[in-house]
Amino acid sequence: MISFADFGYSGKRALVVGGATGMGAAAVELVKQAGGDVIVMDRANVDRDDVTFIQVDLADRDSIEAAADQVSGSIDAHFACAGVADGTPGIERINFIGHRHMIDRFIAKGQITRGAAIGFISSFAGAGWEANLPLVKEYLARTDFDDATKWAQDNGKADYMFSKLAINAYVASQAFPLLKQGIRINAILPGPTDTPLARANADMWLGFGADYREETGIQPSTPDEQAAALVFLCSDAATAITGFTLVTDAGYASSGITESFPPAAPVVGFLRGPLYS
Ligand SMILES: NC(=O)c1ccc[n+]([C@@H]2O[C@H](COP(=O)([O-])OP(=O)(O)OC[C@H]3O[C@@H](n4cnc5c(N)ncnc54)[C@H](O)[C@@H]3O)[C@@H](O)[C@H]2O)c1
Repeated sequence: MISFADFGYSGKRALVVGGATGMGAAAVELVKQAGGDVIVMDRANVDRDDVTFIQVDLADRDSIEAAADQVSGSIDAHFACAGVADGTPGIERINFIGHRHMIDRFIAKGQITRGAAIGFISSFAGAGWEANLPLVKEYLARTDFDDATKWAQDNGKADYMFSKLAINAYVASQAFPLLKQGIRINAILPGPTDTPLARANADMWLGFGADYREETGIQPSTPDEQAAALVFLCSDAATAITGFTLVTDAGYASSGITESFPPAAPVVGFLRGPLYS
């Protein structure tokens, strides 16, 4: 039976991978407020004394395994938040392969187990995962860190959009096998969100959908607005939800699909469509 307490994290242990800044840091804050214990992993240092910090470089297999092995005991909520923009070497590993490798390791060791939930921060850039499923599945079939890295690099898919297509298809495809083990997995697909990463790529990231925000009188999301959806998905209150990619873009995609805001239709149609011949 669900009660309102199931929205909380009292007695739970969360791991936030990529929790130094932006939406990951906001997730750390919300889980702490909700009563949870938090371990933060990031390449960047985290200077707060109410969490356990473990350094990790998601582009590096040895670093991921060493970081994971510093965690003892079980993880109730695993937040995969770290990500980088195009132009960052190792993007295919940082955004997807590295997160998957760490999750696989925790599941294999029984640390992510029955009752646990996994939450990714993906992007609407990966909204075309259904239209591009055969190719993305070919990639997902490379479950080994090095094999997957080689496939992405050899096939010209070591980029932001493909990393987000992969996350979305991975989340959907893992609903069934993980639920057999009692584990849920979901993702949010944020619209423009005011974080250090978005500011560093402001023209493209924070310019996207500016006309929609102007007409609706809204601002880009704040990191905590996005983290709130993610923290909900990994709470027991979301027990009925798994394999789901939740578009958290303040309605931009829906308005483009339905053409209730016609200027959004072309870009939304492009992102949801077949991208590779
Ligand atoms: N900000 C947006 O508008 C927006 C929109 C859609 C999706 N996203 C996604 O949101 C996620 C979070 O990004 P954010 O906007 O909060 O930016 P951010 O830069 O504040 O957060 C990303 C975090 O990842 C960490 N990180 C980067 N490289 C790493 C590595 N090699 N190993 C370990 N940690 C590493 C950073 O140190 C940082 O703490 C990303 O996956 C991004 O693709 C962002």
